[in-house]
Amino acid sequence: MRSPRHLTASRVICLVALATGAHLALASDRDSSPMGPMIRQGKEAFTHETFQGSGRVCETCHLQGGTVPGKRPDGVSIPSLTNAAVIYPRFNARQGKVITLQDQIRSCVSNALEGTPPAYGSDPLNALTVYLTSLAQGKPLDMGGKPQ
Ligand code: HEC
Repeated sequence: MRSPRHLTASRVICLVALATGAHLALASDRDSSPMGPMIRQGKEAFTHETFQGSGRVCETCHLQGGTVPGKRPDGVSIPSLTNAAVIYPRFNARQGKVITLQDQIRSCVSNALEGTPPAYGSDPLNALTVYLTSLAQGKPLDMGGKPQ
């Protein structure tokens, strides 16, 4: 049989468990997580970095940080990037092979920005990847999904 003292101890353990759970829930929040600084760095690059190109930035075409449908310079509409992280790697018909999200980002830097793509494993590329991945938070994982 448990003594009142044991009950108190288990209550304390429950409270600690609840507090830890609450902390984990908070940690999944984009800005307060340890990923926060990287997400902000990626967003900053997305909205301001030209990668020594023609002067365009990602947001020139992918409007409002990529969270809404964008527009190409010729006015043709582009899907939003909110589920980009969920649908990559995917087959790219033009290149005739499977490409990763980082391949796609680098391709937009070379072709759309006419810039120098950040190296694989570099902070700028990782930050852009982390930023785009953060946009997919809470999206259904559909491997056959199309851009939204
Ligand atoms: C000149 C306009 C333009 C700029 C600037 C641009 N992109 Fe793109 N981006 C496009 C077009 C067009 C597509 C192809 C959309 C499609 O597949 O229909 C695309 C596709 C993408 C995709 C894949 C979307 C999907 O759902 O498959 C990602 C990710 C992406 N761009 C990221 C970026 C990033 C990061 C930057 C900045 C480094 C950038 N883009 C700059 C025009 C642009």
